[in-house]
Amino acid sequence: MKQFKKMRTALIGCGMISKTYLENCCKRFNIFEMAGCSDIIPERSAARAQAYGIKQMTNEEIFADPSIELVINTTYQMSHYTVSKQALLSGKHVYSEKMMAVTFEQGKELDALAKERGLFMGCAPDTFMGAGLQTSRVLLDSGIIGTPVSANAIIVRGYHHERMRTEAEKRFAFCPGGGIIYDVGCYYLTALVNLLGPIRRVCGFSQTRDPGSRIYRHPANPLYGDVMTIETPNNTAGTLEFENGVLCVILTSSESVNVTNSFIIYGTEGKIVLNDPNTFGGPVYVQTKMGEAKEMPLTHAYTDNVRALGAADLAYAIRNGRAPRANAATALHTLEAALGIGESGETGRIYSMTTSAERAAPLEAGYIEYPEMVLDI
Ligand SMILES: NC(=O)c1ccc[n+]([C@@H]2O[C@H](COP(=O)([O-])OP(=O)(O)OC[C@H]3O[C@@H](n4cnc5c(N)ncnc54)[C@H](O)[C@@H]3O)[C@@H](O)[C@H]2O)c1
Repeated sequence: MKQFKKMRTALIGCGMISKTYLENCCKRFNIFEMAGCSDIIPERSAARAQAYGIKQMTNEEIFADPSIELVINTTYQMSHYTVSKQALLSGKHVYSEKMMAVTFEQGKELDALAKERGLFMGCAPDTFMGAGLQTSRVLLDSGIIGTPVSANAIIVRGYHHERMRTEAEKRFAFCPGGGIIYDVGCYYLTALVNLLGPIRRVCGFSQTRDPGSRIYRHPANPLYGDVMTIETPNNTAGTLEFENGVLCVILTSSESVNVTNSFIIYGTEGKIVLNDPNTFGGPVYVQTKMGEAKEMPLTHAYTDNVRALGAADLAYAIRNGRAPRANAATALHTLEAALGIGESGETGRIYSMTTSAERAAPLEAGYIEYPEMVLDI
């Protein structure tokens, strides 16, 4: 078995999702040697550092430490660009939570900077590496539904503004970089690119309904009674045309109290009903003209919340000299597609994609966790 040097890694942004990341980075993937963690709110990094037996650091200490090779950026969306850029400028590889940046220009700049410096940049979502979507990939590639023709991704879930207790709770839903097409739509877009390949053109409509008349209603919120402004789309209907000719309807709305997640790929011989791509596991169903929809056995490992899998894959990729799966090209391509739907609505024109992304190499089938196991040397 090949032996690798562990990758000294630090995490920046010790909020909600950092717990899952640190749990998996410290206990599950032996490629990491966690150097420390930081947050602009020091109490948060202190708590995580203590819980995981790692060092509490500042961002500056992380950037200045030459032994740290990789920065995992789990700050909120509006900080992704700045933190990733500083890390790249300090000579670190970066794995960022989604989406990679708020604007397309920022995303392109990060991608170019990483390339220019010979560094790797990876980005969530990594759920497409989970058992559900890897099984779907096996099924699709096996030809069980014939040639894929069309798809739908429908994501409706109310972002109950009246329940928001804090600014942090509001941020993912109502601030730039957040909003349902970015916050949740990115899981579907990334899964679609991994299954169907790159997108050629997009069109659609993007709305910010009722942007300035809602009131903070949670009594524990310090802004109780104030007007809440919504600064990002909350109702979007788009169409994606893939390079392989597949047409997909994508609807994202946080304006209804209903909850619907529908994710289906239709082929000439049947359909695959995919798992919620915001999760790693199944179920996955196939229906062919032979009969009823059947739940299919999962062919791969990773059914639980294994966020940081994409970061581990990036670290293994660096050590192995291969392409990372949750990479900047896909992140930039999906960001462009999401923004392109809005631009199409504004201009009244179809938006032609300027970026492309390869389908990531599938994971090896089987129930072992990571085939590229690392031994400490
Ligand atoms: N919460 C979830 O369930 C979840 C799930 C999947 C992905 N994500 C993604 O993870 C990211 C973080 O989400 P979260 O829910 O943990 O947010 P959060 O607001 O709980 O945590 C973000 C943390 O980053 C810190 N931060 C912001 N700017 C910083 C900077 N410049 N330097 C250092 N620290 C900084 C904040 O102080 C905060 O503690 C987002 O991109 C989100 O889309 C979240």
